[in-house]
Amino acid sequence: MQTVTTLPDLRQAVDELRRFDSKRDTVALVPTMGALHEGHLTLVREAAKRADRVVVSIFVNPRQFGPNEDLDAYPRQLAEDSAKLEAEGVALLWAPGPEAMYPAGYATNISVSSVSDGLCGADRPGHFDGVATVVCKLFNQVRPDMALFGEKDWQQLAVIRRMAGDLDLTQPHVDAIYGVPIVRDPDGLAMSSRNAYLSPEHRAAAAALPRAMDEAIARIRDGQEVGPTLAMLEDEVLGAGFSSVDYAELRDADSIALLDHDNGKARLFVAARIGGTRLIDNKPV
Ligand code: PAF
Repeated sequence: MQTVTTLPDLRQAVDELRRFDSKRDTVALVPTMGALHEGHLTLVREAAKRADRVVVSIFVNPRQFGPNEDLDAYPRQLAEDSAKLEAEGVALLWAPGPEAMYPAGYATNISVSSVSDGLCGADRPGHFDGVATVVCKLFNQVRPDMALFGEKDWQQLAVIRRMAGDLDLTQPHVDAIYGVPIVRDPDGLAMSSRNAYLSPEHRAAAAALPRAMDEAIARIRDGQEVGPTLAMLEDEVLGAGFSSVDYAELRDADSIALLDHDNGKARLFVAARIGGTRLIDNKPV
């Protein structure tokens, strides 16, 4: 595996990857912020099934963190991550520093409305602008044939699909944007780099979140009213040791519009805090 840290080196390396064989090899990009866990490695394996060559980017993107968020504390472990990617047969690791991504004078922002409204868009102002901006840059830098993202960040995936479609990035740069199902620990907690912040007690209590979501989904499927069902979910999560619930909402899977009933493509979205760590999850109804 080759590691590159500047755009000219990246461009040359991707060109070389494409010339690997007599035919033009396809390239899949898996964008990440590092601190790689089994969820990321699942994305890499899915990418390897779909493309000839896999490029992974690791960049802790300052533009998607709010002023009081965990940018400085966000786990950075490039050597460990690099070894994991090497073991997965990844062809290229794109690991730019902040100055390579946002050189002095950088002034462009991409803002995607509608699907960014509500949920994490409401709780984390500017977050999805930061995501859309960096992902657009990554697409332009790597010029992959496809890109893969985890469905744990379902709203992020909706924002990226909208951005790529609206800015005509889907041709020629990225023909396909794939969502890969959430990878969960045996107790049901969705894997996340932020789970590393949890104390053993909070980690054990955190499994109450997906459990309460399953119960709420079963009630909604049974025809029970959405409002009281979500209120019950909140009570259960708070009773299990979470300090707050930022949101627990039923939304349309594609448009992210708020729903008060199951419209056939409803998804339950929850963000809740435990021991200072904000966890998010989503499941289909
Ligand atoms: O999901 C993430 O890890 C990040 O939001 C992404 C897509 C790599 C953009 O920084």
